[in-house]
Amino acid sequence: MADSWTFAVARDDLARTTLVDGAVPGLADGEALLRVDRVGLTANNVTYAVLGEAMRYWEFFPPQPRGLDGGWGLPPLWGFADVMASTVAGVEPGSRVYGYLPSAGHLVVRPDRVDASGFRDASAHRAGLPSPYNAYRSTDGDPAYRADQEDLLILFRPLFFTSFMLADQVVDEDGYGARALVLSSASSKTAYAAAFELHGRGPRLIGLTSPGNLAFTQSLGCYDEVLSYDDIGALDAVPTVYLDLSGSPATRTALRAHLGDLLVRDIAVGLTQQTPNAAAAGEVFFAPVRIRKRSQDWGRAGLDERFADAWQRFSQVVSGWLDVRAGAGPEALRDAWLEVLAGRTPPRVGHVVQL
Ligand SMILES: NC(=O)c1ccc[n+]([C@@H]2O[C@H](COP(=O)([O-])OP(=O)(O)OC[C@H]3O[C@@H](n4cnc5c(N)ncnc54)[C@H](OP(=O)(O)O)[C@@H]3O)[C@@H](O)[C@H]2O)c1
Repeated sequence: MADSWTFAVARDDLARTTLVDGAVPGLADGEALLRVDRVGLTANNVTYAVLGEAMRYWEFFPPQPRGLDGGWGLPPLWGFADVMASTVAGVEPGSRVYGYLPSAGHLVVRPDRVDASGFRDASAHRAGLPSPYNAYRSTDGDPAYRADQEDLLILFRPLFFTSFMLADQVVDEDGYGARALVLSSASSKTAYAAAFELHGRGPRLIGLTSPGNLAFTQSLGCYDEVLSYDDIGALDAVPTVYLDLSGSPATRTALRAHLGDLLVRDIAVGLTQQTPNAAAAGEVFFAPVRIRKRSQDWGRAGLDERFADAWQRFSQVVSGWLDVRAGAGPEALRDAWLEVLAGRTPPRVGHVVQL
């Protein structure tokens, strides 16, 4: 069979990378072979690596079967894969799925709960990991799928799902009684999608961003106000909720110093600056927890329908906020990794790689 490849990063130094060749894995009974076809790279993928041990993200795609030792990790990616071979009824060669994929040419999955919407990977090593990451959505049975929007889905699906669920929680909690919601790394896709969802539905929305990303973030029009990290002193002294996507200790310190008891909630959502922030925040927002709750409240189909509606509204707007930068091949994946890791990607750019 044709060759495959694996891209891995050193777990203790995410800028040290390796690209190795290998054989396409064979299949046992109950398994299917996916060929990783087209994936995206944003700060979110770097966060998976930063939290690789703490949140067990390295365990989804173990390096050892690919001939690499445990000092290496495969950064999880989101994107589309094609079913190449299958021993499982209902998972047909030639079909295309969206899901959580390794930085490698191929992935062997053990499909379970197969239906028209897709399947779950029931591989033993994934059993104890958060369940939304184990779902593979068939393009045929997905109300949010449109062939001409694949790149938008690649880049935004998990991020917008987070933003949608975060906004749902904030609205459900009546904005925690606050008059202002402050989001850091306001230029990030997850932050501005949350602002898009929250705009006009409660507290005033204020984005905090780097000076160089101020103009872009203001141009989106989904925040009521955008300030640079240096201007925290200009925030109104009103009851405020902080949704932290940067993880920056300095920004948290400045907000606490300026707002004191008026900072009514401090919620860790992300860590674009690559410093784990959960312990310093008051609480953590983890999308899979909210997804589980809403799956129970609304049923899986009810959640899918609401998501598809919100996605259609957002996707019409966001294509004007995004320049897709498409690369080809594993080397382009490595280049995109190093660029995103170094924080050199402008917020308007979304990296997509055809493999
Ligand atoms: N809790 C959850 O369940 C959940 C789910 C999805 C995503 N998230 C998190 O949300 C965060 C945003 O992810 P994303 O994919 O939406 O990001 P993105 O669009 O790639 O964000 C890029 C922005 O992040 C900041 N940034 C990027 N690299 C940086 C670096 N090296 N140093 C400092 N700042 C940097 C900059 O924003 P500024 O200049 O505006 O700071 C930059 O414009 C990630 O940490 C991600 O893991 C959390």
